[in-house]
Amino acid sequence: MVGMPKMATARECREHYRDNLLVGFNALADLYYAYWGEFFHLAIFEPGSDPADLADAYEKTHERYLGALGGITTRRILDVACGGGALSAWLAARTAGEVVGVDQSDSQLAHASRWIAGGQRPNLRFVQHDAMRLSDLAEPPFDAAVCLDAACYLPDRELALRGLAARLRPGARLLLVDWCRAERLRRLQRELILEPLCRYWAIPDLETASGYRRSFEAAGFRILEIDDLSEQVLPNWDRGYQAALRAIAEPVRLGQLLRLAARTVPYGTMAIQAAKDQFQVALLAKAAGESGVLRYLSILAERT
Ligand SMILES: C[S@@+](CC[C@H](N)C(=O)[O-])C[C@H]1O[C@@H](n2cnc3c(N)ncnc32)[C@H](O)[C@@H]1O
Repeated sequence: MVGMPKMATARECREHYRDNLLVGFNALADLYYAYWGEFFHLAIFEPGSDPADLADAYEKTHERYLGALGGITTRRILDVACGGGALSAWLAARTAGEVVGVDQSDSQLAHASRWIAGGQRPNLRFVQHDAMRLSDLAEPPFDAAVCLDAACYLPDRELALRGLAARLRPGARLLLVDWCRAERLRRLQRELILEPLCRYWAIPDLETASGYRRSFEAAGFRILEIDDLSEQVLPNWDRGYQAALRAIAEPVRLGQLLRLAARTVPYGTMAIQAAKDQFQVALLAKAAGESGVLRYLSILAERT
């Protein structure tokens, strides 16, 4: 339609992934933390658990993830694309080992710095670095790495996995949890749900389980387990949807946050548009999750 803002193609998303990241995660940090919460990944709800008890679901989700990484005796853990650092802080509080959170976004790292203020967690550090270039990260080998809800933003996941493999000692575990898509989609599922979701989200595409299997193996990992957690995370999509409705019902507060987003980085109207796009993402993600188009996969692997 004439006059509508142009949306990025998959190729443009790949080429400009750093700009997208900065608009999305620098400018919108306050919006996300106001409407979503500290953990920027999905909570797993075990069958029979109370969908309203989010804190309990997150606690169990994190216990499960720490167990997959090797448990409380794991020495050095890398949290790739750690965002506001809440999971890094959770891990650091439960292990005697060292936890290093890495993210590219200044605003996310500013948020993360609250967890280490006043030297409260001497075994926790945050480092600004691009997850696409982890082979350059000046750190001794890690015993485990985790990457939650972030790989979907990366323009070349196999390349990122190769860089990550270079930071891990042989035998180290990697737990990657990501927003993926079903292996086979009908044309209308792509056209009506997946493609608009990716466009509003400014990400090139979503991975499949078989695509990840190939990339992990090519990057030097042996897959131990792939879990499809889609059914167990369904209540999260409703939570995002309700948060979007709440934002629309509070236009004054939302307007303040949008203005704040536009001021925090030199992106102006782009930041405002990105913030508005989050509303569409919340609506589409619920449809994508409930229709089975969107899959939430957990991949546990070992560095060979
Ligand atoms: C949805 S958040 C997830 C944050 C965190 N893992 C969590 O679960 O709470 C995605 C994060 O990925 C980060 N990110 C995206 N692309 C990145 C890149 N190329 N390098 C480093 N961080 C990146 C963003 O800045 C953002 O903090």
